[in-house]
Amino acid sequence: MKKNKISKNWINKQRRDVYVRRSKLEGYRSRAVYKLQEIDKKFNIFKNGLSIVDLGAAPGSWSQYALKNNKSGKIVSIDLIDFEKIENIYQIKGDFTEDRYKEKIIGYFDTKVDIVLSDMAVNTTGNKNLDSIHTGELCMEAMNFSKKTLKNDGKFISKIFMGSTFNEIMSEAKKIFKESKVFKPLASRKESKESFIICKYLR
Ligand SMILES: C[S@@+](CC[C@H](N)C(=O)[O-])C[C@H]1O[C@@H](n2cnc3c(N)ncnc32)[C@H](O)[C@@H]1O
Repeated sequence: MKKNKISKNWINKQRRDVYVRRSKLEGYRSRAVYKLQEIDKKFNIFKNGLSIVDLGAAPGSWSQYALKNNKSGKIVSIDLIDFEKIENIYQIKGDFTEDRYKEKIIGYFDTKVDIVLSDMAVNTTGNKNLDSIHTGELCMEAMNFSKKTLKNDGKFISKIFMGSTFNEIMSEAKKIFKESKVFKPLASRKESKESFIICKYLR
């Protein structure tokens, strides 16, 4: 399919999408917020006074949701790209996989953190296998970071793509966390290989 046809299809799909319309009405920057909301409703993630890290945060809807459901807590959000300021969130522009940015995140908190969120995904290449491998690598990196930075009763929520890296990610999650579940929210498009892992309590 030609590139301008693909983007026309994408624009039409966005127009029809109820989550896109709802996010505009409710003041969220992306439909992605409804995936996190479903995860929160099912797994009871947020409450007030938590320290939270949001990896791959742009344009910012997960951070907006985390802020709304975590009054008086502390939130750091990082993305490769600049995104519009959200009051009361420390925003970093940088590549999370670089040590200097991991140190910057850790340095912001006095203690270990309660939640690490990762919705990080690489720019899609059209090759679903390759995309799932690269996004899997980001998830593994975020999981290893969580192992070092989470409190014992902390939670790690991450995007994954169902594919060749899935088994490896799940077996690593089981080694690190006492609980690890896979969940595909209704707001995650059916045709997408995207899903989420919800991990709780470090071993
Ligand atoms: C699906 S979007 C996140 C949407 C976001 N959760 C929201 O609700 O607005 C994925 C993001 O991951 C970011 N990303 C990918 N690799 C990254 C990396 N190594 N470090 C930081 N951000 C990264 C991309 O720039 C992109 O903005």
